[in-house]
Amino acid sequence: MLASALDGIRLTIHVLAATIWVGGQFTLAGLVPTLRKSGEGVAAAAAKAFSKLSWPAYGLLIVTGLWNVSATDMNKTTSAWKVVLGIKVTVVALSGISAFIHTKAKSKSQIATWGGISGVMAVASLTIGVFLAG
Ligand code: HEM
Repeated sequence: MLASALDGIRLTIHVLAATIWVGGQFTLAGLVPTLRKSGEGVAAAAAKAFSKLSWPAYGLLIVTGLWNVSATDMNKTTSAWKVVLGIKVTVVALSGISAFIHTKAKSKSQIATWGGISGVMAVASLTIGVFLAG
């Protein structure tokens, strides 16, 4: 069955923002070794430029996520679906919190730890979203 135009727009914006928030983190992580070799401060400048895209994308994920929930007929969802939604909201929050701590971390080990946690939480948010979509 085809999605209606409004559902298509809602999910397209949600998924587009997810590609930036989730895919962008992996793309940047993959580029960092090369950027580090390109000069002092290049990787940090790229990370700063990415944050100008990633945080608006995260905000858009929350707005369109709430739109997804309001477009869902709760009477037709199972209790398992509602539990999974609750888990997703928690994981999304952890994704944002860990990414924020990662950007503020000073030591290399903290940057790596919080970057890793942020990546795992971002992928978990995406995976749970796919299951919610059915
Ligand atoms: C890091 C943040 C997030 C990511 C990466 C993410 C990712 C995704 C993805 C990939 C889908 C599947 C879309 C599809 O297959 O058509 C989805 C669906 C969904 N997301 Fe998110 N999402 C995020 C945040 C949120 C938030 C904050 C909420 C709720 C407040 C939310 C609620 C939903 C719902 C209800 C669906 C199912 C939509 C439907 O079937 O109509 N998402 N999400």
